Amino acid sequence: MNTSQSVQPMQSLDEWDDFVAVRYRQDKTEDQFRDYSTDANPGVTEFYRQNHAQQTVEFVLAARTEFLKLNRGKKSIWEAAEYLNTLVDDSDPDTDLSQIEHLLQTSEAIRKDGHPRWFVLSGFIHDLGKVLCLYGQPQWAVVGDTFPVGCAYSDQIVFPEFFEANPDSKVPEYQSLYGIYEPRCGLDNVYLSWGHDEYVFNVTKNYLPEPAQYILRYHSFYAAHKHGAYRHLMNEHDEQMFEWVKKFNPYDLYSKGADRPNFKEVKPYYEDLVAEFFPAQLDW
Ligand SMILES: [Fe+2]
Ligand SMILES: [Fe+2]
Repeated sequence: MNTSQSVQPMQSLDEWDDFVAVRYRQDKTEDQFRDYSTDANPGVTEFYRQNHAQQTVEFVLAARTEFLKLNRGKKSIWEAAEYLNTLVDDSDPDTDLSQIEHLLQTSEAIRKDGHPRWFVLSGFIHDLGKVLCLYGQPQWAVVGDTFPVGCAYSDQIVFPEFFEANPDSKVPEYQSLYGIYEPRCGLDNVYLSWGHDEYVFNVTKNYLPEPAQYILRYHSFYAAHKHGAYRHLMNEHDEQMFEWVKKFNPYDLYSKGADRPNFKEVKPYYEDLVAEFFPAQLDW
């Protein structure tokens, strides 16, 4: 394995999304959710091995310092979407779904169900944080289920055995139930593993209603929104807002098989929608 292969073990970021969708396939029982090993492929497994070993408190704080200055230039939502779309997976001829297409399939499914405009918009922008990959970040620092760092790892996190290799697992302070946090301190005070959720939340938060902020920020926090873990760190307000995160998740997971949206046809709707909430350019 050469260096670039070992840093990017998946052929594309979609491999992780597909893995999660299979893990939570709608016809599965609760028990079968746990039996994900049979669905795993070596790339995704290696990806999780790297993610769980390297998402430390120190790494998360450093990534936040580096990226949350938002000093990587101004871009409109459209420019970010087009930029993300350059992340084409040319290694897999079957994956003709561009990144924009996943965003549109998610948002169109939300729109068809008659949800508020901010909810549709959340679907349309929820994965724009994956541009981190185009900044040269390794896959394990862009996608993957997110989890709190600096406190005990929940056994509800996928591949919990891989945390053994995380240096934080040898720090007693980080392995107590609450770790560096206070009971029910609220997720806003908790550092989650670094990735595209936290990044896009920070870029867009000033312009979106709070449920949308929660959707963007916690959509990959499966241990919490699918399995009910980490309630001891969440406050009452988080609990309420997570109803929206839960409502969003099926659109993210299950809209892939839906019809391919005709981008040209729906573009005017999205141009209005984006302009309704966002200024012409945002700091990324
Ligand atoms: Fe995502
Ligand atoms: Fe997504």
